[in-house]
Amino acid sequence: MKEKVIIQICMGSSCFSRGNNKTLEVIRHYLDEHQLSGDVVLKGNHCFGDCSKGPVVKINDHIHEEIDRENILELLQKTFNT
Ligand code: FES
Repeated sequence: MKEKVIIQICMGSSCFSRGNNKTLEVIRHYLDEHQLSGDVVLKGNHCFGDCSKGPVVKINDHIHEEIDRENILELLQKTFNT
């Protein structure tokens, strides 16, 4: 069985207000559009303690910093080869 990709999006107040609120919508939309929701565990997370480099999204074991609407799409495309 294929292992699920774990996407953790920081919902701490700093990351959330600086863009992760929108990024969450972008991720949901992308997963729907590519019918990937079943391959992914998407969860919100408390502050990663990395606010100054936020907004932060963690994909599997890797923390990605300064996430915005564009680079999240690039990361998703790389992660899922789409
Ligand atoms: S609020 Fe996201 S790292 Fe602190």
